Amino acid sequence: MSGSPPGEMEGLEVTDCEACTELCESRSRIVNGVGPADADLVFVGEAPGANEDEQGEPFVGRSGDVLTEALRDRGLARRDIRITNCVRCRPPDNRDPRSDELANCKGYLAAELERVDPELVVTLGKVPAQHLLERSVAVTKEAGTVHDARVGEGSYRILLCVHPAATLYDRSQESTFADALDEAVALAGLDGNGGGQSRLGEF
Ligand code: URA
Repeated sequence: MSGSPPGEMEGLEVTDCEACTELCESRSRIVNGVGPADADLVFVGEAPGANEDEQGEPFVGRSGDVLTEALRDRGLARRDIRITNCVRCRPPDNRDPRSDELANCKGYLAAELERVDPELVVTLGKVPAQHLLERSVAVTKEAGTVHDARVGEGSYRILLCVHPAATLYDRSQESTFADALDEAVALAGLDGNGGGQSRLGEF
């Protein structure tokens, strides 16, 4: 369930929200998504960490470096894609966002996806995968699989991927991450092999 966003949005940006008492205390700022408003690919992470909270941009810490480098290896720049999170405020002590916090923020994500209308949404890690598919997900096993899901009023193709940070803790996740990204870039028609055409009609 996503309902109406509980705070203010201007375009794709949440400008004011007080829906989660604890997150209002732990955040320095609201961290909105970045990237083109008409991106073919949208990456969805969990929630901002310390670096993101400080800089006001998703995935700018070590896991952001992993993601940026993986995009670069595939001929893409961060500015070519959109990156956002399920929850826009940093949880205290980097804990996982709670279900009430995920629910409070879902209307913003739904509004963002509706406006961007991407070819493909890529979830980074277990939290966004479970949040968007609304079921439990074994993300390492299911990485690289594509699903249709409704988010708010829209319906999207969603490819599951492990979190980039997983590759820092467990080298065996590197190929899982790389394979899912290869698939994402190809499905969105951004690999230079499809003449700009998405391959999603095959699924
Ligand atoms: N991890 C996430 O899930 N999101 C970020 O923005 C940074 C790290």
